[in-house]
Amino acid sequence: MTIRTIGLVTGGGDAPGLNAVIRAVVKTAVTEYSLRVVGIEDSFEGLIDETRTRELTPADVRGLLPRGGTILGTRNRGRFVERGGADGSDVKPEQIYQQAVENLRRLDIDALIVLGGEGTLGIAAEFDKLGVPVVGVPKTIDNDLACTELTFGFVTALDIATEALDRLHTTADSHDRVMILEVMGRHTGWIALHSGIAGGADVILIPEIPFSLKAVAEKIEERERCDSQFSIIVVAEGAREAGGLEIYQDAGDREHAPRLGGIGHHVARELEALTGKETRCVVLGHLQRGGTPNAFDRMLATNYGSCAVRALMRGETGKMVALHSADIITVPLAKAVANVKTVALDSQLIRTARDIGVSFGAIDEAAHHGKVKC
Ligand code: F6P
Repeated sequence: MTIRTIGLVTGGGDAPGLNAVIRAVVKTAVTEYSLRVVGIEDSFEGLIDETRTRELTPADVRGLLPRGGTILGTRNRGRFVERGGADGSDVKPEQIYQQAVENLRRLDIDALIVLGGEGTLGIAAEFDKLGVPVVGVPKTIDNDLACTELTFGFVTALDIATEALDRLHTTADSHDRVMILEVMGRHTGWIALHSGIAGGADVILIPEIPFSLKAVAEKIEERERCDSQFSIIVVAEGAREAGGLEIYQDAGDREHAPRLGGIGHHVARELEALTGKETRCVVLGHLQRGGTPNAFDRMLATNYGSCAVRALMRGETGKMVALHSADIITVPLAKAVANVKTVALDSQLIRTARDIGVSFGAIDEAAHHGKVKC
């Protein structure tokens, strides 16, 4: 199939670097291949009912590199996924996809480049099955997409969380407090683990390692014995106590995804009761996603955007561009969205954290406390 016009979609939560990808796609497509690029607004929603699309030219993307958010708008729940399966699982409503495919034809859009996380790229994979050429670009600050070493947005979020930890150190140290930072990470602890190491946290709580409050309290008491009167804890929003459940702010409904949040305050309350130390919690929330991408994410986003156009023009479809050993490759979309990429418990970084005395609050760590040399 000859590709003359590419449709561009941004979906899911915003992430620093979305606009940088849009810019790279437009510049590469128009300048290098003389294609047209049509931006689809508000994720795939812009493809149904009265469609909402607009042509993007190099003039339209001028100045976009450092700009946060997405000029196309985004949604993290829409009509392309319904919670309707007998077991409460998600289903893909066929008539919505048919309408979108007809609209793509009517708008002369020959192929799609889709920027998103596992949910959005799952929808993109359905378009591929319906015969629309698609290439995905991996986006999420959570870095939990499989088949790629990094998603764009993650490293900027990491910088923000690390700076927050640096700033919390000041108060923790001055007031002899325990300070807890709750960061994003629904199913995985990538932001918590990386920022915890970069920001010198004493305890890192991640979804992959269910924790014991007793083990966390013992770590804080061990630090007191070693003359450190304050402690810093970073907790991923999806972390949970061993034998417990994740904590939600909102269970969600047909239109809204369930919203995690509250684990940091829970840990603060329980730890204060266990240790008698003043314990405070800060929830970093959307500050991790907003604002300008850092230099690395601008570079990665630009490379991903440009490589996505080249992949389409080579005739690839049903693929996602991915970072692999400092190179951009393409991987099957279906494989990338099949499972989330979790932190491996035997990874080098977990080992390094443990070797420098970081606690993950694991049940078996309690036995280790008391043996530590100050
Ligand atoms: O996927 C990124 C993410 O930031 C998650 O970590 C978080 O749970 C979710 O998006 C929250 O999105 P929102 O609150 O904007 O719906």
